[in-house]
Amino acid sequence: MYATAHLDLPPLVHARGLVRLPGSKSISNRVLLLAGLSEGTTRVHDLLASDDTRVMLEALRTLGCQVTRHGEVLEITGLGGRLKTREAKLFLGNAGTAMRPLTAALALLAADQGGSFELSGIPRMHERPIGDLVDALRPLGCRIDCLGQEGYPPLRLDGGKLKLDAPIRVRGDVSSQFLTALLLALPLVSEGRALVIEVEGELISKPYVEITLNLLRRFGIEVQREGWLRFTIPQDSRYRTPGDVHVEGDASSASYFIAAGALAAVDAPVRIEGVGHDSIQGDIRFVEAARAMGAKVASGPNWLEISRGEWPLKAIELDANHIPDAAMTLAVMALYAQGTTRLTNIASWRVKETDRIAAMAKELRKLGATVDEQPDSIAVTPPAQWRAASIETYDDHRMAMCFALAAFNPLITQQPVPVRIEDPRCVAKTFPDFFESLFDVSRARTEDIPVLTVDGPTASGKGTLAAVLAQRLGYHLLDSGVLYRATALAAIRRQVGPDDEAGLAELAAGLNLRFNADQVQMDGEDETLALREEQVGSLASRISALPAVRRALFELQLSFRQLPGLVADGRDMGTVLFPGAQLKVFLTASVETRAERRYNQLISKGFSANLPDLCADLEARDLRDKTRAISPLKPAQDARMLDNSQMTVDESVDLVLGWWEASRPFQDGPGR
Ligand code: C5P
Repeated sequence: MYATAHLDLPPLVHARGLVRLPGSKSISNRVLLLAGLSEGTTRVHDLLASDDTRVMLEALRTLGCQVTRHGEVLEITGLGGRLKTREAKLFLGNAGTAMRPLTAALALLAADQGGSFELSGIPRMHERPIGDLVDALRPLGCRIDCLGQEGYPPLRLDGGKLKLDAPIRVRGDVSSQFLTALLLALPLVSEGRALVIEVEGELISKPYVEITLNLLRRFGIEVQREGWLRFTIPQDSRYRTPGDVHVEGDASSASYFIAAGALAAVDAPVRIEGVGHDSIQGDIRFVEAARAMGAKVASGPNWLEISRGEWPLKAIELDANHIPDAAMTLAVMALYAQGTTRLTNIASWRVKETDRIAAMAKELRKLGATVDEQPDSIAVTPPAQWRAASIETYDDHRMAMCFALAAFNPLITQQPVPVRIEDPRCVAKTFPDFFESLFDVSRARTEDIPVLTVDGPTASGKGTLAAVLAQRLGYHLLDSGVLYRATALAAIRRQVGPDDEAGLAELAAGLNLRFNADQVQMDGEDETLALREEQVGSLASRISALPAVRRALFELQLSFRQLPGLVADGRDMGTVLFPGAQLKVFLTASVETRAERRYNQLISKGFSANLPDLCADLEARDLRDKTRAISPLKPAQDARMLDNSQMTVDESVDLVLGWWEASRPFQDGPGR
């Protein structure tokens, strides 16, 4: 997951390969609640691990359900319809799929069995209406107080006395989640009588209600429905666990990769595993819309394969009420269509994680598109001229994911631009590894993948600076010194002499290294500490003067330039390896400062050291590095000099990030 302040996506030109989808959010949270209300133990497979499921699980634990993990499988022992905890405060983040059904279930249980519960969330949750559900529950005898504004969370559910003789009425035209909440909760109080729900107004997002009915059936409850107006829960319904439940991949999440295939899968398809044409999720019908825009889609029960059909895409006009979430992806695909794409009947966008119609319009315009925004529709005309934009994501996972598709702009414009996604962490709501998956199936032209180099003499603090920069930008890190050190370590171990150029080059070419966070593995062993030993460094410095060794490591170093970008540290990164780097920094701390840093570093790691010796050694090494014939240590012509002798790491990082920012084309980002 990228937890950076923003993530810059280079222009992307191809998509191909395999994506495995995380579990569906809608199915995951319904299954968790049903398992939590059932009698017995449910084993849930392929559950989505995300912010929304985390808050639901936490709530279930607080309510007394037993939750244990066995590898990939989650076991939940439910309440069997009886409250174990009569008083609790539940924090539900921004998870509508937890807030609505828990409100209904706990309000009914509290009125039936006694109890007092407080349900709250983040500030945005407190702006998302729940009044229609509260209005449906109060006439049933549930006592519900809105603790802030009437009609919005936070709520207190405080006992009451059930009266269930009349049909239960709920509005269906703001959010289908209110009906879903009642359908999930009412079986708990169906003892002695069947319960009828009547929907007022035109029910929106019907496919989500179908998921609810489908899962109720899996847990033993067969709801009868007359059209989309009347739903009857049979008398004495009881939740029974089906034992094992497999959660389907998320069909809404599939939409981003279906789109990527439609845009950029030219020589081989994008294959998606986890959903297919058997899906019970309404958003699978996004496939039809994508086809209408030009995508070529093949499918099986559990997979989809997408490639580009028509190009440019065809503009469409679509009532998107049946696929409200996935339709956001269509609005971004519209950037690649000929003409204007209009999506109608999407008023529900305004009460989602953010006001999605307003947010979509504002961000699409930043890219240069023309947008017509109406209360319940949006129309998008592609940019005449694309602009590099910093896309605000409003703590809305779908804003971040669908706008990532704007990075494919080189396919439609002669002047490609990168796209900045602010707060990329918000994808954790449903798809924590979204960007990793996107980078797995996308290709950029190498020269478009940004590189920032940090060169300088030994012990200048390059390594530390480069590592922090990489982390702050979400980029890969190449610590090129490690490659020379690894070659030196291998030479010591295998007794290859320091002058055996061919033998050393062979070792360099055959290095088997793996980098995990701060750890370096060589041939499967953790060698992080051994690589930092002085004798290894000193031999590395010697053998790095050998042309054959440098040649042997050349391609390996270039291969680190991968999406979304690279921070490369080492003496010749800006001069030899990445002469076209967007920013080159050359560190110039004094020998005394560097010797002192190295001294402290060695002592803190438990090695013995002596300051005058280190000083002399550094001077000798500098001289050798500067005067050697091949790749001598010298700043690139266009390098920015940074004497960090008097600076803290944070100060150097901020200074370099400022330079980096100035080299980027975004005019309206938060970093400016
Ligand atoms: O940076 P570090 O001290 O880990 O590098 C070990 C040795 O490898 C250095 O002394 C330097 O001579 C050599 N080296 C190099 N070119 C690089 C990185 C390191 O010659 N790009």
